[in-house]
Amino acid sequence: MAIKKSIRDIDVAGARVLVRVDFNVPLADGKVADDTRIRAALPTIQYLRDRGATVILISHLGRPGDRPDDSLRMDPVAVRLSELLDEDVVKLDDCIGPDVEQRLGDLEPGRVALLENSRFHPGEKKNDPQMAEGLARLADIFVNDAFGTAHRAHASTAGVAALMPAVAGLLVENELKQLSRLVDDPQHPFITILGGVKVSDKIGVIDRFLDFADAILIGGAMCFGFLKARGIDIGASKVEEEAIDTAAAALEKAEASDCRLLLPTDLVVADAFAADAATDTAPVDSIPAGWMGLDIGPETASAYVNEIGKAGTIFWNGPMGAFEMKPFEAGTKAVADAVAASDGLTVSGGGDTVAALNRFGLADRIDHVSTGGGAAMEFLEGKELPGIAALEDA
Ligand code: 3PG
Repeated sequence: MAIKKSIRDIDVAGARVLVRVDFNVPLADGKVADDTRIRAALPTIQYLRDRGATVILISHLGRPGDRPDDSLRMDPVAVRLSELLDEDVVKLDDCIGPDVEQRLGDLEPGRVALLENSRFHPGEKKNDPQMAEGLARLADIFVNDAFGTAHRAHASTAGVAALMPAVAGLLVENELKQLSRLVDDPQHPFITILGGVKVSDKIGVIDRFLDFADAILIGGAMCFGFLKARGIDIGASKVEEEAIDTAAAALEKAEASDCRLLLPTDLVVADAFAADAATDTAPVDSIPAGWMGLDIGPETASAYVNEIGKAGTIFWNGPMGAFEMKPFEAGTKAVADAVAASDGLTVSGGGDTVAALNRFGLADRIDHVSTGGGAAMEFLEGKELPGIAALEDA
């Protein structure tokens, strides 16, 4: 991908700047439950404020279904952002239209405004030109700092960028730099750790990494697609039926490659998906009838920790089990501890992985925690990210 201009390459002094951020954050009880993504956007906001620019922020939040949804308004985000900036952020009730234009026109330079959820408009996901034009009317310059949404060609990402001077923000610039280190001449052994539920989300990355990683360690519910493809009875474990063929194809490709694809050899099994379920440890081919695997077992965890200890480069996406429940956290915790202790380059991505690292207090011991889940995966797969492609080349 071509190198893109960033806000550091242009004059932003006193300008009106529309910044696409990814404030798609988890909410609980009407409050922001994890502000990682908001904090990640602060350097760009601060950089622009310091230069007297008016900062107009736009983001989506959740998947509201192309119409206003009161539970997905940006107000809790505005509250948290105001606290972090120590300034009252002006929250608007829409993101385009004459009222928005007028309220923004009244703002003094240097102020920060947050527009309403872009996905309340059907034009957003369709990348509708009218919506993109409505957004372009709000500012002189467009900045994309929404790395987590860079894989979406929407009106507020790719659409508006085509209509005005458009550059990357500091978060996007840093994400591209850090993720590129994984693919540009990485130190070996290169270990990829993949977990989570869906094989289908990860297959592109498995395919690409089989070409240049030394080992791929599989955990989480996605391992059951692989185990089933190997003909193992997985009991009541959760599996995506369509994933079995995908997993079988990956296993076949792995046979012919120099990369080892490691599957769990034992599991923590339970009689229900619940924190108070009866639990046990079992080899993968001996899951008791009606029971399910909810974490990798101790033998697997120790084998994975051993691999991680030898790695020169590590990419981790997806937990090893249902770590949010205490009885099933050990596998994810062992992997997290080992990644944190690694001397190699360590990069992680994806909301659940970040949540796990935060839960174990280890996020600051990882070299780069990406704010992107799907976007980071697509970047590593070698796909073009439409939100980045639309920015001006350096
Ligand atoms: C994410 O959380 O991955 C991004 O904000 C994109 O959200 P989406 O998957 O709803 O497009």
